[in-house]
Formats: sequence, structure tokens, C-alpha cells
Amino acid sequence: MRLKDKISIVTGAASGIGMATSINFGRQGAIVIAADIDLEGAKRTAEKLEQEGSIGIPMKLDLSSLAEVKRFINQVLERFENVDILVNNAGRFSTLPILEMTEEEWDGVMDVNLKGTFFLCKEVLPNMIKQGYGKIVNLSSLAAKRGGVTSGINYAASKAGIFSITKCLAKFAAPYGINVNAVVPAFCDTNMFRSLPKEKIENAIKSIPLGRPARPEELADAILFLASDEASYITGEILDVNGGVLMD
Ligand SMILES: NC(=O)c1ccc[n+]([C@@H]2O[C@H](COP(=O)([O-])OP(=O)(O)OC[C@H]3O[C@@H](n4cnc5c(N)ncnc54)[C@H](O)[C@@H]3O)[C@@H](O)[C@H]2O)c1
Repeated sequence: MRLKDKISIVTGAASGIGMATSINFGRQGAIVIAADIDLEGAKRTAEKLEQEGSIGIPMKLDLSSLAEVKRFINQVLERFENVDILVNNAGRFSTLPILEMTEEEWDGVMDVNLKGTFFLCKEVLPNMIKQGYGKIVNLSSLAAKRGGVTSGINYAASKAGIFSITKCLAKFAAPYGINVNAVVPAFCDTNMFRSLPKEKIENAIKSIPLGRPARPEELADAILFLASDEASYITGEILDVNGGVLMD
């Protein structure tokens, strides 16, 4: 088992890549804290984990609020001594055109994707530093590299910020035995992808050399690798998992 007894937080665990990651982690022996703003969804993920004989604890987390992030971490640390793995997977999508962008929509996406990710890392890091061990995996997006075509400018910018956060934290945390990396999906068959208009989905699929969107489990496998000790010498890496859509 690659993650035996590792205390792991997976955000956005109620669906898609977060759910697949939670299940994958559970199969590798991790204790999975399935965190999501959608508590009922997080409970369903935890139930799936339990059905497989894994340990899943559903917890409510609203990443858009710093007070909520602090409350969540206090709750986690009250129950567990350490956090070994943090997967910042939760994300809020936007497709609002540039000339229609509002302050509310800009802030809403930034608050979840960028501010929430950073402050959750900030709250978890003292514990990882104390134990001299930690793995952080952040989810970015092809939109950050290529410019949002189907996605909004706020979403693309928030995901580009993930690159900077990943590299800054990787440098800061390396002396403490903590690895920080990012995974970059392009098109993955989840609710977020399916929320796009049919024509955009068809065009997206046509652009993928491997000829199909990723399955959530394929992202989960890349996340598992970076969260495991097999990736002990990898930090600050931005890993594309995109079926060949962008080869850079
Ligand atoms: N699916 C794709 O094609 C694709 C492409 C590029 C990047 N991504 C990224 O992958 C990650 C996972 O997305 P997915 O495709 O599984 O989508 P998804 O919509 O299935 O899952 C996103 C999860 O995030 C949760 N969430 C949203 N706002 C939250 C908040 N304020 N606090 C806590 N949780 C919140 C949702 O409840 C949901 O469970 C996201 O960061 C997304 O941006 C996905």
C-alpha cells in the first residue's frame, strides 16, 4: 500500500476528480478526509470508501472563507495529530465572457481557486513542518497555460496563480521534507466538463490527440503518484495530464 495510514485531505471530494482521488487514496491505505462545500456529496464519497473497507471522513469546507478554512483545519487537527497529504482539488468554474465580467464573479472564482488553496496550505504547513513530512498536490488547468477558450478569464487567471503558489511553496517547504506539485488537466469527464455546451465539448474532444477526455481515475492516478513517496525527489513540478492536447 502506497499511502498506508497517511492522513490525507482531499478538497472537492464530493465529485469528479476529487471523488476518484479519495477512492484511490483509500485503496492505498490512506485515511481520507473528504472535504467539500457539498457535505451530502462528501458523505456519499465517504460511504463509498467505507464500502470498500477504507476510512473516509466527510467534512464540510467552504474554501471561499478564510474563517471557514481555519475552522476546518482546527476540526481536522482536533481529531488527528498530523496531516500528511493535502490535495487542493476543489474548483469553481466560470464561463463568463471577458466584457461581461463582474467584480462578484471575478472574486467568487479567485476566492475558491486561489485564495482558498493558498490559505488551506498556509494552515496545514505548520503541522507538516513540525513533523518534517508532507505532500501537497494542487489542481491547475490547461486554461492557465493556453488562455481560456471555453473558460472564463478569472478561472484561467486563478489557475495560472496555482503555478506560482506551487513553485513558491515548493521552495519554501523543501527544507522541511515537504513536496509541493501541481497537476494540470485539460478535459476530464466530470460535472465541470459536462457543464459546457455540447458543441464546445465536441470541439474539445476533436482537439485531443488521444481522442477522448480523461477519466477522473486517470487524474487520480497522477495525483496519487505525486502524493506518494515514489515522487520523493519531485517538487515544484507542473505535471500535464492532458491526452496530448498541449505538449510543452
Ligand atoms: N474536468 C475538467 O475538464 C478540468 C479541467 C481542468 C482543470 N480541472 C480542475 O480539476 C479540479 C476538479 O474538478 P472536477 O472536474 O472534478 O469538477 P467537479 O465540479 O466535479 O468538482 C469540483 C468540486 O469542488 C467543490 N467546490 C466548489 N466550490 C467549493 C468551495 N467553495 N469549497 C469547497 N469545495 C468546493 C464542488 O462542490 C465539487 O465537488 C478543479 O480544480 C478543476 O478546476 C478540471
